Amino acid sequence: MRSPIIAGNWKMNKTVDEAVEFVDQIKNDLPDPKVQETILAAPTIALVPMVKATAGTPLKITAENCYYKDAGAYTGETSPTSLYSAGVHHVILGHSERRQLFNETDELINLKVHAALDAGLCPIVCCDDTMGRRVAGKKVHWVVSRILADLKDLKPENVNKVVIAYEPSWAIGTGESMDPAEAEEGCYLIRQTIADMYGEETADQMRILYGGSVNTQNVNKLMASQDIDGILAGGASLDPVTFLKLVNH
Ligand code: G3P
Repeated sequence: MRSPIIAGNWKMNKTVDEAVEFVDQIKNDLPDPKVQETILAAPTIALVPMVKATAGTPLKITAENCYYKDAGAYTGETSPTSLYSAGVHHVILGHSERRQLFNETDELINLKVHAALDAGLCPIVCCDDTMGRRVAGKKVHWVVSRILADLKDLKPENVNKVVIAYEPSWAIGTGESMDPAEAEEGCYLIRQTIADMYGEETADQMRILYGGSVNTQNVNKLMASQDIDGILAGGASLDPVTFLKLVNH
């Protein structure tokens, strides 16, 4: 049994005060994390105050990025060990905005996934997808190559600490969500790839989320799909009332 995850990704939004006010508003209305996990990714500057404000609650505060080194002359970067020691649980890696705007490659993301796991963080690895990447007549798909590269050479005991988020680029921030049946197909393909890499049992335990214009209207249909274990919402996570509706869908 894979426990579902409802996750929000604020991206570069909210001041520290707004972030704390938000979590104060929702922290007492969240489900038992054994039944469903609630995750919120926020800008780095807000993470420590959010961790403090939510101590003892089920909300898992999450970073939106980290570097693959722990310390040193890397001006402006954030160490995975510092995040973990500050009480941060997860880190989003490989979001399509980072791939597109900051030229992050699969090789870099793989290094970051390893570093995050070594530091104790659980990576949420985003796997984007674009229209028309499928190669006609062949079982080759963009998401397969992403997963093969981003999750390369993980220690077997670490693989299930990873959460994958399948996020078609064209569905991000557009209001046009992927059809649940197609989203299911993408998540299934990802699970098959994990099975090829790390075995069926590991693939069965892997949590795979869908992201891309998730809202209160489509969350139930998406969550009803067999291979979709949760959602990663961007815009719909910015308002506390809407986020709670997603959490308690
Ligand atoms: O990481 C979440 C994301 O990229 C989806 O954003 O605004 O389409 O829900 P949105």
